[in-house]
Amino acid sequence: MIRLPLVNHRIGRAAVTCEYRCGDACFHDVPNTSGNPYFGDLISRRTALKAGAVVAATAATASVPAAAAPESHGRPTRGLDFKPVEVNTKDEVVVPEGYEQGIVIRWGDPLFPGVPEFDFDAQTAAKQAKQFGFNCDFAAILPLDPLELTGIMVTNHEYTSEPFMFRGYDPANPTREQVEIAWAAHGLSVFMIKRSLFSGHYKPRFSKYNRRITLHTPFEVRGPAAGSDLLKTSVDPTGTRVLGTINNCSGGVTPWGTILSGEENFNQYFANAAGRNDPRLARYGVTGTATTRKWERFDKRWDLAQEPNEVNRFGWIIELDPNDPDSTPVKHTALGRFKHETANVRIADDGRVVAYSGDDERFEYIYKFISNGKVKRGNSKAARRHNMTLLDDGTLYVARFKGDSPASEIDGTGKLPSDGKFDGTGEWIPLAAGKKSFVPGMSAEEVYVFTRIAADKVGATKMDRPEDIECHPRTGTVYCALSNNVERGVTPGKEGATEPNPRVNNRHGQVLELAERRGDALALTFNWGLFLVCGFPDDPNTYFGGYDKSQVSPISSPDNVAFDRHGNLWISTDADGKLDGLNDGLYGVPLEGPERGHLKLFLTVPRGGETCGPVIGERVITVCVQHPGEVDGASADKPVSNWPDRGTSRPRPSVVAVWRKGRRQLGEIG
Ligand code: FEO
Ligand code: CA
Ligand code: CA
Ligand code: CA
Repeated sequence: MIRLPLVNHRIGRAAVTCEYRCGDACFHDVPNTSGNPYFGDLISRRTALKAGAVVAATAATASVPAAAAPESHGRPTRGLDFKPVEVNTKDEVVVPEGYEQGIVIRWGDPLFPGVPEFDFDAQTAAKQAKQFGFNCDFAAILPLDPLELTGIMVTNHEYTSEPFMFRGYDPANPTREQVEIAWAAHGLSVFMIKRSLFSGHYKPRFSKYNRRITLHTPFEVRGPAAGSDLLKTSVDPTGTRVLGTINNCSGGVTPWGTILSGEENFNQYFANAAGRNDPRLARYGVTGTATTRKWERFDKRWDLAQEPNEVNRFGWIIELDPNDPDSTPVKHTALGRFKHETANVRIADDGRVVAYSGDDERFEYIYKFISNGKVKRGNSKAARRHNMTLLDDGTLYVARFKGDSPASEIDGTGKLPSDGKFDGTGEWIPLAAGKKSFVPGMSAEEVYVFTRIAADKVGATKMDRPEDIECHPRTGTVYCALSNNVERGVTPGKEGATEPNPRVNNRHGQVLELAERRGDALALTFNWGLFLVCGFPDDPNTYFGGYDKSQVSPISSPDNVAFDRHGNLWISTDADGKLDGLNDGLYGVPLEGPERGHLKLFLTVPRGGETCGPVIGERVITVCVQHPGEVDGASADKPVSNWPDRGTSRPRPSVVAVWRKGRRQLGEIG
């Protein structure tokens, strides 16, 4: 393992990335100032033993998997038969021996006939609205044929980094054209991809599916808060129609073939919160006067002094039907409003649907939604239209975790407690169902629009930045990446270590397994355990599912999760340089059997970039490379990365495909 000297990052990621991606969230006060305690701290050893007995009793049907057997590292697991790549700081995508790679699409590539090729120095908003957007994060591929030769790719464009998009950018005085380019560079892209039988190199195609969602695209607001006074503006007195979506981070593919996408750090786009003196704004990190991008100078909707409710129209889960380019995308208020990383859906035995979603900020919560309606099978337009209403009507819950070890054994270092596991039980606390609120002092509308405040009141458990959360397609176990939280136990007044978040100054994060009781998606209680406690394997306080740590790759700040068809977990990272300045990557890890926990680094992305949106196909893996070259001191005027175009080019966020070479017909991954 290469181990490089520590780089001089504030806590890692370049200042410009922090400012433009999440509005410097890490450098503002944590918005969660609620005093709701962690209940696991309060349980006695005796209760803990009793709780442990309950866990044991239910374990047969719904427990998190056991640790790897000590006599592990035998044959490679199916789907993971590759030699891990070394951690590095290269300005390229590094893949294992025997694999090839190709660029699928780059920022600015045309999505429609007649649109000019990208020209860094001649960009316009009109062109950008028909080209691939900036900073791709989540991606999905909906195959159009059984061999996955063609598919519809959908990607989020989380945010714009103007200093990397324009030469000579003056952050104090952006031009209207620059601002309008940014509006067009946000949102999502939908486009067809195609590859040959003998290569994994997907390339974009013009097709009837191709579509750009920008800040000008109309969305329909649905669910119990649609039409609420809290969502009405001068432009939309109905509170049901919003133009655009912003800061779309991760997402999911629904079982009915639509795309969900989370509006994450929406707070940073709204100016003049300071004058409003509204604690509900502060709870969402909406603070200050002028914004970084100064959009408020060009459209009053970004100015809270003029449009106080516009901010309430962001922070939702959106749903898009990529099969129908004329469809109106939806904002689902029934899933609550917070900094949604993502949402992912599973179908319960009786046909109702369950959606999981995390609120990606330090000390925020994990949520679950259970629909009232049942899924309609089939892939007809009518079935999709019906299924797209399922997330509008149901009950929203928030998670409360309880550890089964005594609080005294959770010492904040990450040292395992005497029962050998960070684990325990938990429950889903109801917040609202339709027009009914379960939160004292809050109406249902308020619960949906100010969900964080509702969750504070019912004593939800403060987690270390819940990022992607997804249900294993075969076992039903839910996996959640908890990225990091360097303020846990450090900032005065903030919560210290708890069993599900067992490290103070948590730089590297953890991966949580959550198994609903009796394996029932509708259950309101669950068992949980930490599968990974991330970091360098030679740190005694890291944990890799019980696997021999001399065999695993180092990992920091898990972000997106995905599964392959063999049931292995894949994890991409957003380490902000926290892994001693090493590049981010994509990892594969078995979840079962003697190889459980054998984490291997599959690829790394270029300097300054983040690995996002992994899609693990049968023959091709794709990842999004977000913000390549964004390191301190760099800009469009002083690029430190020339990926992917090389020469003296500026870096371009892009999607990369990776496949195994050397077979007459393309082989399987791993
Ligand atoms: Fe956009 Fe949660 O990271
Ligand atoms: Ca324990
Ligand atoms: Ca992230
Ligand atoms: Ca991300």
